[in-house]
Amino acid sequence: VYNYLFEFPLPIPSTLAPLTTYTNPNTSVPIDFYEIKIQPFQRRQYPNLGLANLVGYNGQAPGPTIRVTRGRETVVRFINQQTRPSSIHLHGSASRAAWDGWAEDVLEPGQYKDYYYPNTQAARTLWYHDHAEGITAVNAYQGQAGFYIIDDPVDAALGLPSGQYDIPLALNAKFYKSNGDLLSIAGEEDEWWGDVIEVNGQPWPYLAVEPRKYRFRLLDAAADRSFSLSLMNGNTKVPFTVIGSDSGLLSQSVSTNNLRIAMAERWEIIVDFAPFAGKNLTLTNARDVFKDEDYFGTDRVMRFKVGNAVSSTANNGPVPTNLANLHLPPVQRTAVDRSFLFEHTNSEWRINGVGFADVANRILARPQRGKVELWKLENGSGGWSHPIHIHLVDFQIKSRVGGRNAVSAYEQKALKDVVSLGPNEAVTVLMQFQPHHGVYMFHCHNLVHEDHDMMAAFNVTQLQN
Ligand code: C2O
Ligand code: CU
Repeated sequence: VYNYLFEFPLPIPSTLAPLTTYTNPNTSVPIDFYEIKIQPFQRRQYPNLGLANLVGYNGQAPGPTIRVTRGRETVVRFINQQTRPSSIHLHGSASRAAWDGWAEDVLEPGQYKDYYYPNTQAARTLWYHDHAEGITAVNAYQGQAGFYIIDDPVDAALGLPSGQYDIPLALNAKFYKSNGDLLSIAGEEDEWWGDVIEVNGQPWPYLAVEPRKYRFRLLDAAADRSFSLSLMNGNTKVPFTVIGSDSGLLSQSVSTNNLRIAMAERWEIIVDFAPFAGKNLTLTNARDVFKDEDYFGTDRVMRFKVGNAVSSTANNGPVPTNLANLHLPPVQRTAVDRSFLFEHTNSEWRINGVGFADVANRILARPQRGKVELWKLENGSGGWSHPIHIHLVDFQIKSRVGGRNAVSAYEQKALKDVVSLGPNEAVTVLMQFQPHHGVYMFHCHNLVHEDHDMMAAFNVTQLQN
Protein backbone atom coordinates (compact mmCIF):
# COMPACT_ATOMS: atom_id res chain seq x y z
CA VAL A 1 0.00 0.00 0.00
CA TYR A 2 1.25 3.44 -0.96
CA ASN A 3 1.17 5.71 2.12
CA TYR A 4 2.01 9.04 0.53
CA LEU A 5 -1.25 10.48 -0.80
CA PHE A 6 -0.96 14.13 -1.84
CA GLU A 7 2.49 14.56 -0.26
CA PHE A 8 4.54 15.20 -3.40
CA PRO A 9 4.05 18.00 -5.93
CA LEU A 10 2.71 17.49 -9.43
CA PRO A 11 5.55 17.38 -11.96
CA ILE A 12 4.87 19.48 -15.05
CA PRO A 13 6.74 18.20 -18.11
CA SER A 14 9.24 20.69 -19.51
CA THR A 15 8.64 22.21 -22.93
CA LEU A 16 11.13 21.13 -25.58
CA ALA A 17 12.89 23.79 -27.64
CA PRO A 18 13.58 23.16 -31.33
CA LEU A 19 17.22 22.55 -32.24
CA THR A 20 16.90 24.70 -35.31
CA THR A 21 14.33 26.19 -37.68
CA TYR A 22 14.28 25.82 -41.45
CA THR A 23 12.05 27.40 -44.03
CA ASN A 24 10.06 25.22 -46.40
CA PRO A 25 11.40 26.49 -49.77
CA ASN A 26 8.11 25.78 -51.54
CA THR A 27 5.76 27.48 -49.12
CA SER A 28 7.99 29.74 -47.00
CA VAL A 29 6.44 28.08 -43.93
CA PRO A 30 8.87 27.74 -40.99
CA ILE A 31 9.79 24.16 -40.02
CA ASP A 32 10.92 23.62 -36.42
CA PHE A 33 13.30 20.69 -35.99
CA TYR A 34 13.27 18.73 -32.73
CA GLU A 35 15.19 15.71 -31.52
CA ILE A 36 13.97 13.15 -28.99
CA LYS A 37 15.92 10.17 -27.71
CA ILE A 38 14.02 7.12 -26.50
CA GLN A 39 16.07 6.25 -23.43
CA PRO A 40 15.99 3.95 -20.39
CA PHE A 41 16.12 5.76 -17.06
CA GLN A 42 15.37 5.13 -13.42
CA ARG A 43 13.14 7.01 -11.02
CA ARG A 44 12.04 6.45 -7.44
CA GLN A 45 8.25 6.18 -7.40
CA TYR A 46 7.95 5.01 -3.79
CA PRO A 47 9.99 7.15 -1.35
CA ASN A 48 10.79 4.13 0.83
CA LEU A 49 11.62 1.64 -1.94
CA GLY A 50 14.10 1.11 -4.76
CA LEU A 51 14.18 2.62 -8.23
CA ALA A 52 11.72 1.85 -11.00
CA ASN A 53 13.16 1.05 -14.43
CA LEU A 54 11.43 3.18 -17.04
CA VAL A 55 11.98 4.05 -20.70
CA GLY A 56 10.95 7.50 -21.84
CA TYR A 57 11.38 10.26 -24.37
CA ASN A 58 14.62 12.08 -23.50
CA GLY A 59 14.64 9.92 -20.38
CA GLN A 60 11.47 11.50 -19.03
CA ALA A 61 7.93 10.23 -18.49
CA PRO A 62 5.77 11.92 -19.58
CA GLY A 63 8.14 13.03 -22.31
CA PRO A 64 8.90 16.70 -22.87
CA THR A 65 5.94 18.71 -24.16
CA ILE A 66 6.17 19.92 -27.74
CA ARG A 67 4.22 23.15 -28.08
CA VAL A 68 3.73 24.52 -31.56
CA THR A 69 1.86 27.35 -33.21
CA ARG A 70 -0.60 26.42 -35.92
CA GLY A 71 0.85 27.29 -39.32
CA ARG A 72 4.40 26.22 -38.46
CA GLU A 73 5.50 22.73 -39.46
CA THR A 74 7.57 20.37 -37.33
CA VAL A 75 10.05 17.60 -37.95
CA VAL A 76 10.84 15.45 -34.93
CA ARG A 77 13.78 13.08 -35.08
CA PHE A 78 13.11 10.12 -32.78
CA ILE A 79 16.26 8.16 -31.96
CA ASN A 80 15.71 4.70 -30.50
CA GLN A 81 18.22 4.11 -27.70
CA GLN A 82 16.21 1.40 -25.95
CA THR A 83 16.47 -2.35 -26.49
CA ARG A 84 13.02 -2.87 -28.06
CA PRO A 85 11.58 -1.63 -31.35
CA SER A 86 9.57 1.61 -31.25
CA SER A 87 7.11 3.35 -33.52
CA ILE A 88 5.84 6.84 -32.78
CA HIS A 89 2.29 8.00 -33.36
CA LEU A 90 1.22 11.62 -32.92
CA HIS A 91 -2.28 10.92 -31.68
CA GLY A 92 -4.76 13.49 -33.00
CA SER A 93 -2.65 14.71 -35.90
CA ALA A 94 -3.85 14.30 -39.48
CA SER A 95 -0.38 13.10 -40.45
CA ARG A 96 0.50 11.56 -43.77
CA ALA A 97 0.50 7.76 -43.48
CA ALA A 98 4.30 7.55 -43.69
CA TRP A 99 4.61 9.50 -40.43
CA ASP A 100 1.56 8.15 -38.62
CA GLY A 101 3.35 5.49 -36.58
CA TRP A 102 2.13 2.43 -38.50
CA ALA A 103 2.66 -0.45 -36.06
CA GLU A 104 5.02 -2.38 -38.36
CA ASP A 105 7.06 0.69 -39.30
CA VAL A 106 9.36 0.36 -36.32
CA LEU A 107 12.69 1.82 -35.37
CA GLU A 108 14.94 -1.03 -34.33
CA PRO A 109 17.34 -0.27 -31.47
CA GLY A 110 19.93 2.22 -32.74
CA GLN A 111 17.79 3.52 -35.59
CA TYR A 112 16.18 6.93 -35.99
CA LYS A 113 13.42 8.41 -38.12
CA ASP A 114 12.38 11.97 -38.89
CA TYR A 115 8.63 12.41 -38.47
CA TYR A 116 6.95 15.29 -40.27
CA TYR A 117 3.88 16.96 -38.77
CA PRO A 118 1.84 19.59 -40.62
CA ASN A 119 0.10 21.35 -37.62
CA THR A 120 -2.66 22.63 -39.88
CA GLN A 121 -5.54 21.50 -37.65
CA ALA A 122 -7.47 23.55 -35.13
CA ALA A 123 -5.62 24.15 -31.86
CA ARG A 124 -5.75 21.01 -29.76
CA THR A 125 -4.07 18.78 -27.19
CA LEU A 126 -2.38 15.90 -28.95
CA TRP A 127 -0.07 13.33 -27.49
CA TYR A 128 2.76 11.32 -28.95
CA HIS A 129 3.22 7.74 -27.88
CA ASP A 130 4.59 4.39 -28.91
CA HIS A 131 2.64 2.27 -31.41
CA ALA A 132 4.93 -0.72 -32.11
CA GLU A 133 3.09 -3.91 -33.06
CA GLY A 134 2.37 -6.19 -30.14
CA ILE A 135 4.43 -4.16 -27.64
CA THR A 136 2.63 -0.82 -27.48
CA ALA A 137 1.45 -1.65 -23.97
CA VAL A 138 4.99 -2.43 -22.81
CA ASN A 139 6.50 0.68 -24.38
CA ALA A 140 3.80 3.18 -23.45
CA TYR A 141 3.42 1.74 -19.94
CA GLN A 142 7.16 2.10 -19.30
CA GLY A 143 6.91 5.77 -20.16
CA GLN A 144 6.79 6.40 -23.90
CA ALA A 145 4.09 9.07 -24.01
CA GLY A 146 4.18 12.87 -24.03
CA PHE A 147 2.07 15.95 -24.79
CA TYR A 148 2.11 17.85 -28.08
CA ILE A 149 -0.01 20.99 -28.03
CA ILE A 150 -1.05 23.08 -31.03
CA ASP A 151 -1.88 26.70 -30.19
CA ASP A 152 -3.72 29.03 -32.52
CA PRO A 153 -3.19 32.77 -31.89
CA VAL A 154 -6.79 33.47 -32.98
CA ASP A 155 -8.00 31.74 -29.78
CA ALA A 156 -6.37 34.45 -27.63
CA ALA A 157 -9.54 36.53 -27.98
CA LEU A 158 -11.38 33.96 -25.84
CA GLY A 159 -9.30 35.00 -22.83
CA LEU A 160 -8.80 31.45 -21.53
CA PRO A 161 -6.25 30.90 -18.75
CA SER A 162 -2.76 30.59 -20.25
CA GLY A 163 0.90 30.31 -19.33
CA GLN A 164 1.35 29.05 -15.76
CA TYR A 165 -2.45 28.68 -15.54
CA ASP A 166 -2.62 26.20 -18.44
CA ILE A 167 -1.51 22.78 -17.19
CA PRO A 168 -1.52 19.34 -18.85
CA LEU A 169 -2.52 16.41 -16.62
CA ALA A 170 -1.71 12.90 -17.86
CA LEU A 171 -3.59 10.35 -15.75
CA ASN A 172 -2.24 6.83 -15.43
CA ALA A 173 -2.60 3.68 -13.35
CA LYS A 174 0.35 1.40 -12.60
CA PHE A 175 1.32 -1.68 -10.64
CA TYR A 176 4.66 -1.77 -8.79
CA LYS A 177 6.63 -4.63 -7.29
CA SER A 178 7.54 -4.72 -3.60
CA ASN A 179 11.07 -3.53 -4.49
CA GLY A 180 9.71 -0.35 -6.08
CA ASP A 181 10.24 -1.41 -9.70
CA LEU A 182 7.43 -1.36 -12.23
CA LEU A 183 5.57 -4.65 -12.54
CA SER A 184 5.94 -5.78 -16.15
CA ILE A 185 2.82 -5.62 -18.29
CA ALA A 186 4.46 -7.91 -20.91
CA GLY A 187 2.49 -11.04 -21.67
CA GLU A 188 -0.78 -9.72 -20.23
CA GLU A 189 -3.67 -10.46 -22.58
CA ASP A 190 -6.84 -9.17 -20.96
CA GLU A 191 -6.57 -6.54 -18.26
CA TRP A 192 -4.11 -4.32 -16.42
CA TRP A 193 -5.96 -1.97 -14.13
CA GLY A 194 -3.11 -0.59 -11.99
CA ASP A 195 -3.60 0.20 -8.30
CA VAL A 196 -1.35 3.30 -8.17
CA ILE A 197 -2.95 6.38 -9.72
CA GLU A 198 -0.40 8.77 -11.22
CA VAL A 199 -0.61 12.24 -12.70
CA ASN A 200 2.30 13.30 -14.90
CA GLY A 201 4.23 10.31 -13.52
CA GLN A 202 3.80 11.11 -9.81
CA PRO A 203 1.53 8.90 -7.66
CA TRP A 204 -1.35 10.93 -6.15
CA PRO A 205 0.33 14.37 -6.40
CA TYR A 206 -0.78 17.73 -5.13
CA LEU A 207 -0.70 21.02 -6.99
CA ALA A 208 -0.50 24.39 -5.25
CA VAL A 209 -2.88 26.73 -7.07
CA GLU A 210 -3.95 30.35 -6.74
CA PRO A 211 -7.58 31.27 -6.04
CA ARG A 212 -8.41 32.00 -9.69
CA LYS A 213 -9.21 30.15 -12.94
CA TYR A 214 -7.03 27.42 -14.42
CA ARG A 215 -7.16 25.46 -17.65
CA PHE A 216 -6.37 21.76 -17.28
CA ARG A 217 -5.71 19.53 -20.28
CA LEU A 218 -6.69 16.07 -19.09
CA LEU A 219 -5.40 12.98 -20.87
CA ASP A 220 -6.11 9.40 -19.85
CA ALA A 221 -2.74 7.84 -20.68
CA ALA A 222 -3.45 4.61 -18.79
CA ALA A 223 -3.06 1.25 -20.47
CA ASP A 224 -6.36 0.09 -19.06
CA ARG A 225 -8.38 2.38 -16.78
CA SER A 226 -11.25 4.77 -17.42
CA PHE A 227 -12.04 7.51 -14.92
CA SER A 228 -15.21 9.19 -13.73
CA LEU A 229 -13.84 12.40 -12.24
CA SER A 230 -15.30 14.75 -9.67
CA LEU A 231 -13.74 17.70 -7.89
CA MET A 232 -14.60 17.53 -4.21
CA ASN A 233 -14.69 20.21 -1.55
CA GLY A 234 -15.17 17.90 1.41
CA ASN A 235 -18.31 16.00 0.45
CA THR A 236 -19.54 18.61 -2.00
CA LYS A 237 -18.99 18.36 -5.76
CA VAL A 238 -17.50 21.51 -7.27
CA PRO A 239 -18.76 22.36 -10.76
CA PHE A 240 -16.25 23.04 -13.53
CA THR A 241 -16.47 23.93 -17.21
CA VAL A 242 -15.55 21.61 -20.09
CA ILE A 243 -14.07 23.62 -22.96
CA GLY A 244 -12.14 21.17 -25.11
CA SER A 245 -11.94 17.61 -26.39
CA ASP A 246 -9.63 15.42 -28.46
CA SER A 247 -10.04 17.72 -31.44
CA GLY A 248 -9.75 21.10 -29.74
CA LEU A 249 -12.26 23.58 -28.40
CA LEU A 250 -15.91 22.57 -28.04
CA SER A 251 -18.50 24.54 -29.97
CA GLN A 252 -19.87 25.70 -26.61
CA SER A 253 -18.63 25.36 -23.05
CA VAL A 254 -20.45 22.85 -20.83
CA SER A 255 -20.70 23.11 -17.06
CA THR A 256 -20.69 19.80 -15.17
CA ASN A 257 -19.64 18.25 -11.88
CA ASN A 258 -18.60 14.90 -13.34
CA LEU A 259 -16.35 14.03 -16.26
CA ARG A 260 -15.91 10.63 -17.87
CA ILE A 261 -12.54 10.06 -19.52
CA ALA A 262 -11.47 6.82 -21.19
CA MET A 263 -8.05 5.79 -22.41
CA ALA A 264 -6.53 8.22 -24.95
CA GLU A 265 -9.37 10.72 -24.59
CA ARG A 266 -8.52 14.36 -23.89
CA TRP A 267 -10.90 16.71 -22.14
CA GLU A 268 -9.98 20.26 -21.25
CA ILE A 269 -11.62 21.94 -18.29
CA ILE A 270 -11.63 25.33 -16.61
CA VAL A 271 -11.66 25.21 -12.81
CA ASP A 272 -12.28 28.38 -10.82
CA PHE A 273 -10.54 28.10 -7.46
CA ALA A 274 -11.54 31.66 -6.43
CA PRO A 275 -14.23 30.55 -3.92
CA PHE A 276 -11.84 28.11 -2.24
CA ALA A 277 -8.91 30.23 -0.99
CA GLY A 278 -7.07 28.40 1.78
CA LYS A 279 -8.90 25.12 1.13
CA ASN A 280 -7.98 21.72 -0.29
CA LEU A 281 -9.98 20.29 -3.19
CA THR A 282 -9.56 16.65 -4.21
CA LEU A 283 -9.94 15.27 -7.72
CA THR A 284 -11.64 11.92 -7.18
CA ASN A 285 -12.52 8.91 -9.29
CA ALA A 286 -15.75 6.97 -8.87
CA ARG A 287 -15.81 3.33 -7.79
CA ASP A 288 -17.14 0.77 -10.29
CA VAL A 289 -16.29 2.60 -13.51
CA PHE A 290 -17.23 0.02 -16.15
CA LYS A 291 -15.56 -3.28 -15.28
CA ASP A 292 -12.40 -1.61 -13.94
CA GLU A 293 -11.03 -3.22 -10.79
CA ASP A 294 -10.90 -0.97 -7.72
CA TYR A 295 -8.11 -0.86 -5.14
CA PHE A 296 -7.39 1.13 -2.00
CA GLY A 297 -6.57 4.45 -3.66
CA THR A 298 -8.13 4.19 -7.11
CA ASP A 299 -10.99 6.46 -6.01
CA ARG A 300 -8.57 9.40 -5.67
CA VAL A 301 -6.43 11.15 -8.28
CA MET A 302 -4.79 14.34 -6.99
CA ARG A 303 -5.27 17.29 -4.66
CA PHE A 304 -5.37 21.03 -5.28
CA LYS A 305 -4.05 23.14 -2.40
CA VAL A 306 -5.59 26.55 -2.94
CA GLY A 307 -3.49 29.48 -1.71
CA ASN A 308 -4.66 32.96 -0.72
CA ALA A 309 -2.87 35.21 -3.20
CA VAL A 310 -3.36 35.73 -6.94
CA SER A 311 -0.22 36.80 -8.80
CA SER A 312 -1.92 37.56 -12.13
CA THR A 313 -5.52 38.37 -12.94
CA ALA A 314 -4.94 38.09 -16.70
CA ASN A 315 -7.32 35.73 -18.53
CA ASN A 316 -9.41 35.21 -15.42
CA GLY A 317 -12.75 36.41 -16.79
CA PRO A 318 -15.95 34.46 -17.45
CA VAL A 319 -15.62 31.44 -19.74
CA PRO A 320 -17.32 32.30 -23.04
CA THR A 321 -20.36 30.21 -23.97
CA ASN A 322 -19.42 30.10 -27.65
CA LEU A 323 -15.92 28.80 -28.20
CA ALA A 324 -15.33 27.54 -31.73
CA ASN A 325 -16.89 26.73 -35.07
CA LEU A 326 -16.38 23.00 -35.35
CA HIS A 327 -15.25 21.62 -38.70
CA LEU A 328 -18.23 19.29 -38.89
CA PRO A 329 -18.57 16.76 -41.70
CA PRO A 330 -20.11 18.69 -44.62
CA VAL A 331 -23.07 16.32 -45.06
CA GLN A 332 -25.17 14.20 -42.73
CA ARG A 333 -25.77 10.47 -43.15
CA THR A 334 -28.67 8.66 -41.56
CA ALA A 335 -27.91 5.20 -42.90
CA VAL A 336 -24.97 3.35 -41.38
CA ASP A 337 -22.25 2.89 -44.00
CA ARG A 338 -20.16 0.31 -42.12
CA SER A 339 -20.49 -1.67 -38.89
CA PHE A 340 -17.70 -2.94 -36.70
CA LEU A 341 -18.13 -5.43 -33.88
CA PHE A 342 -15.51 -5.33 -31.11
CA GLU A 343 -15.48 -8.84 -29.69
CA HIS A 344 -13.69 -11.23 -27.38
CA THR A 345 -13.78 -14.58 -29.17
CA ASN A 346 -11.72 -17.69 -28.35
CA SER A 347 -9.79 -15.52 -25.86
CA GLU A 348 -8.74 -13.14 -28.65
CA TRP A 349 -9.73 -9.49 -29.09
CA ARG A 350 -11.04 -8.91 -32.61
CA ILE A 351 -12.79 -6.38 -34.88
CA ASN A 352 -15.34 -8.14 -37.12
CA GLY A 353 -13.36 -11.31 -36.45
CA VAL A 354 -10.08 -9.79 -37.68
CA GLY A 355 -6.87 -8.88 -35.86
CA PHE A 356 -3.94 -6.76 -37.06
CA ALA A 357 -1.77 -9.85 -37.51
CA ASP A 358 -4.25 -11.09 -40.13
CA VAL A 359 -2.36 -9.22 -42.83
CA ALA A 360 -4.48 -10.46 -45.75
CA ASN A 361 -7.77 -9.35 -44.20
CA ARG A 362 -6.99 -6.47 -41.88
CA ILE A 363 -8.04 -3.63 -44.19
CA LEU A 364 -11.70 -3.52 -43.21
CA ALA A 365 -12.80 -0.40 -45.10
CA ARG A 366 -11.87 1.46 -48.26
CA PRO A 367 -13.59 4.85 -48.07
CA GLN A 368 -12.92 7.20 -50.94
CA ARG A 369 -11.03 10.33 -49.95
CA GLY A 370 -13.42 13.18 -49.18
CA LYS A 371 -16.34 10.84 -48.50
CA VAL A 372 -18.50 11.25 -45.41
CA GLU A 373 -19.43 7.99 -43.70
CA LEU A 374 -21.44 6.96 -40.68
CA TRP A 375 -19.79 4.08 -38.82
CA LYS A 376 -21.44 1.93 -36.21
CA LEU A 377 -19.09 0.67 -33.51
CA GLU A 378 -20.59 -2.06 -31.40
CA ASN A 379 -19.31 -3.63 -28.20
CA GLY A 380 -19.94 -7.35 -28.43
CA SER A 381 -17.69 -8.37 -25.56
CA GLY A 382 -19.96 -8.48 -22.52
CA GLY A 383 -18.76 -6.42 -19.56
CA TRP A 384 -15.61 -5.00 -21.16
CA SER A 385 -15.23 -1.42 -22.30
CA HIS A 386 -13.27 -0.35 -25.37
CA PRO A 387 -12.21 3.21 -26.19
CA ILE A 388 -12.10 3.18 -29.99
CA HIS A 389 -9.61 5.40 -31.80
CA ILE A 390 -9.83 6.09 -35.52
CA HIS A 391 -6.63 7.59 -36.94
CA LEU A 392 -6.53 10.56 -39.37
CA VAL A 393 -10.07 11.89 -38.85
CA ASP A 394 -12.07 13.94 -36.36
CA PHE A 395 -15.55 12.53 -35.86
CA GLN A 396 -18.86 13.54 -34.37
CA ILE A 397 -20.56 11.11 -31.96
CA LYS A 398 -24.12 10.83 -33.28
CA SER A 399 -25.68 8.24 -30.99
CA ARG A 400 -25.01 5.81 -28.18
CA VAL A 401 -27.48 3.02 -27.44
CA GLY A 402 -27.33 0.37 -24.72
CA GLY A 403 -25.25 0.87 -21.56
CA ARG A 404 -25.23 4.61 -20.73
CA ASN A 405 -27.66 5.09 -23.61
CA ALA A 406 -26.73 8.73 -24.19
CA VAL A 407 -24.20 11.00 -25.79
CA SER A 408 -23.05 13.20 -22.89
CA ALA A 409 -23.60 16.96 -22.95
CA TYR A 410 -19.93 17.66 -23.57
CA GLU A 411 -19.59 14.89 -26.18
CA GLN A 412 -22.44 16.57 -28.08
CA LYS A 413 -20.43 19.79 -28.40
CA ALA A 414 -17.21 18.04 -29.44
CA LEU A 415 -15.27 16.57 -32.27
CA LYS A 416 -13.38 13.47 -31.20
CA ASP A 417 -10.81 10.93 -32.27
CA VAL A 418 -11.60 8.42 -29.50
CA VAL A 419 -15.06 7.29 -28.44
CA SER A 420 -15.71 5.39 -25.24
CA LEU A 421 -17.61 2.18 -25.97
CA GLY A 422 -18.95 1.00 -22.62
CA PRO A 423 -20.36 -2.45 -21.86
CA ASN A 424 -23.23 -3.35 -24.21
CA GLU A 425 -22.98 -0.02 -26.02
CA ALA A 426 -23.17 0.74 -29.71
CA VAL A 427 -22.23 4.18 -31.00
CA THR A 428 -22.43 5.81 -34.39
CA VAL A 429 -19.76 8.27 -35.48
CA LEU A 430 -19.80 10.55 -38.52
CA MET A 431 -16.62 11.63 -40.25
CA GLN A 432 -15.13 12.81 -43.50
CA PHE A 433 -12.13 10.88 -44.77
CA GLN A 434 -9.64 13.64 -45.42
CA PRO A 435 -7.22 15.29 -45.94
CA HIS A 436 -4.95 12.42 -47.03
CA HIS A 437 -5.33 9.09 -48.76
CA GLY A 438 -3.45 6.07 -47.49
CA VAL A 439 -3.71 3.18 -45.05
CA TYR A 440 -4.42 4.07 -41.42
CA MET A 441 -5.15 2.10 -38.26
CA PHE A 442 -8.20 2.00 -36.05
CA HIS A 443 -8.28 0.09 -32.80
CA CYS A 444 -9.19 -0.27 -29.18
CA HIS A 445 -7.01 2.05 -27.07
CA ASN A 446 -6.97 -0.35 -24.15
CA LEU A 447 -3.32 -1.13 -24.88
CA VAL A 448 -3.65 -4.76 -23.80
CA HIS A 449 -6.53 -5.27 -26.22
CA GLU A 450 -4.75 -3.32 -28.95
CA ASP A 451 -1.72 -5.59 -28.71
CA HIS A 452 -3.86 -8.77 -28.68
CA ASP A 453 -5.06 -7.83 -31.39
CA MET A 454 -8.06 -5.52 -31.50
CA MET A 455 -6.64 -3.39 -34.28
CA ALA A 456 -7.36 -3.20 -38.00
CA ALA A 457 -6.93 -0.71 -40.84
CA PHE A 458 -8.79 1.33 -43.40
CA ASN A 459 -7.52 2.53 -46.75
CA VAL A 460 -8.56 6.00 -47.81
CA THR A 461 -8.57 5.62 -51.57
CA GLN A 462 -8.42 7.98 -54.51
CA LEU A 463 -10.92 5.83 -56.39
CA GLN A 464 -14.58 4.96 -56.15
CA ASN A 465 -15.13 1.76 -54.08
CU1 C2O B 1 -3.21 6.82 -29.42
CU2 C2O B 1 -3.45 4.32 -32.69
O1 C2O B 1 -3.21 5.53 -31.03
CU1 CU C 1 -10.72 -2.96 -25.77
